[in-house]
Amino acid sequence: MKENIETFKAPTGTKDILPAEAAVWLSVEEKCRDIFDLYGYKPIRTPILEHSGLFNRSLGEETEIVKKQMFLIPRQTEIFCLRPEATAAVVRAYLENNLDKTDGFMKLYYMGPMFRAERPQKGRLRQFHHIGIEAIGSSNPYVDSEIIALARGILEELKISGYQIKINSLGCPEDKQTLNRLLREKLKDKLEKLCEDCNDRFNRNVFRILDCKNDGCKQVVSELDLQYNEYLCQPCLQHFTIVKNNLDALKVDYHSSTSLVRGLDYYTKTVFEISHPGLGAQDALGAGGRYDTLITNLGGPHLGAMGFAFGLERLLLAAPQESGVFAENLSVFVITLGEQAQKKGFLLLQELRQARISCDMDYEDKSLKAQMRKAHDSKARFAAILGENELAKQVIALKDMRAGSQHEIAFTTIVNEIKERL
Ligand code: HAM
Repeated sequence: MKENIETFKAPTGTKDILPAEAAVWLSVEEKCRDIFDLYGYKPIRTPILEHSGLFNRSLGEETEIVKKQMFLIPRQTEIFCLRPEATAAVVRAYLENNLDKTDGFMKLYYMGPMFRAERPQKGRLRQFHHIGIEAIGSSNPYVDSEIIALARGILEELKISGYQIKINSLGCPEDKQTLNRLLREKLKDKLEKLCEDCNDRFNRNVFRILDCKNDGCKQVVSELDLQYNEYLCQPCLQHFTIVKNNLDALKVDYHSSTSLVRGLDYYTKTVFEISHPGLGAQDALGAGGRYDTLITNLGGPHLGAMGFAFGLERLLLAAPQESGVFAENLSVFVITLGEQAQKKGFLLLQELRQARISCDMDYEDKSLKAQMRKAHDSKARFAAILGENELAKQVIALKDMRAGSQHEIAFTTIVNEIKERL
């Protein structure tokens, strides 16, 4: 590098996704898309740039995200932001485009970058990626159960095991107020046992005390002994019972916990979170819930809605080798030695591509060993080797990179042979 020339690094908490990793991402996205198709979800893409007011109103002025983590971009008289999440944006798009009138109930999915100015650590980035869904326009508890089952479906598709699904109900807005009062009542004599942050939360947002990571606070919370019938009204209790019964019928393993609260204010009734012990401190793979008041809060009609989002980076941390997403991405790497072999190999690439078989070669005149290394690095399924001997015999030495075996195959049948073996 030349002296005195400033060099640049990606901003803290962001990451370049280089080709090998990008291939894995595509594979995860493809698997998720397959599941979304199965459940009748359609894609939606909303801008990365939104008006910051959308999130202030939707997530709540007192939430960590709005108070501390928004990437704000003031421009002339307006304040934009890089979206910290997509639920509010999807609801905005649903209303702005009158989808409530033209389509009514809609099942939408999205994949893309979100931005939060958090302190970066393992599994916590400033630019991270959501794979999420929003089912807008229904208050039916069957939708809640279907969404939780869909989330499980994605984990199964990625062969992720060892996760835990936690669910809870916060009830309708009136129930949330009852819960607020109840919590304040139960906690008011225990403030000295709570951490400084929780003392602050007691006045600002008492729900957040329930998921404080401080051991002392956790102990206080575990002794609260909250019961659903203390704060959920009859219809909300019934809604939650239907959700749980459906999950039982679908054999979804879940754990019901009154201390599960979410960091966003828009949630009502069912909320859920999926955690994985392999992720360390940031153990939430994904989370979501119902938000039956957000649509009216953004100026729309009275419509129920529910959704969730997985963190793509966290899914990858939990995905095992056998999930299939780390598999080979090239079918054949063609290795040639000498000019004649290169000419023949070049034509073979064309034939393979016409047969829709992915392939590549190295044009740098490297040694056999160096080309084999390239074949290996490109994670090719087969290496097709062409040297003087092979040219003379009109064959190709086809090496199965998985099994390690090698066979000579005639030029005339090579494409069909490879097709059959793939
Ligand atoms: P959230 O819990 O804030 O929910 O984010 C969902 C998931 O995104 C988390 O469980 C985690 O896997 C991942 N995630 C969040 N922040 C970060 C970060 N800084 N770095 C890496 N991964 C992260 C929502 O955003 C809601 N919009 C979900 C939803 C959809 N609720 C209803 N519909």
